[in-house]
Amino acid sequence: MESTEFDASQYEFFPFGDAADLPPGERWFIDVEDRPVMVANLGGKYYAIADVCTHDDGPLGDGDIDGCEIICPRHGARFDLKTGEALTLPAVTRTMVYPVRERDGKLEIGILKK
Ligand code: FES
Repeated sequence: MESTEFDASQYEFFPFGDAADLPPGERWFIDVEDRPVMVANLGGKYYAIADVCTHDDGPLGDGDIDGCEIICPRHGARFDLKTGEALTLPAVTRTMVYPVRERDGKLEIGILKK
């Protein structure tokens, strides 16, 4: 199962947990290259987004999720979970998103190849 429309050939994937432990509706917080990232299972699709809001460093991953958008709990900026794009003020800068895939029951997160 793939998360979104990433070009997998551009990423190196690393396992971070068992898919059975992240059922639909749940979210996890992990570190990716020393940066906090929130991973969510939304109806069987996985999304991973930086856990730091680009407006004022709010804890983005704790925000409510509305469809494929996450709402920063601090000032309400919305971000697209697929692209990281900032959709509403006060945020104007996109944030990082990562591909997540399932392989043999393990979840893997993708880091852009250098
Ligand atoms: S810190 Fe996220 S909208 Fe202000």
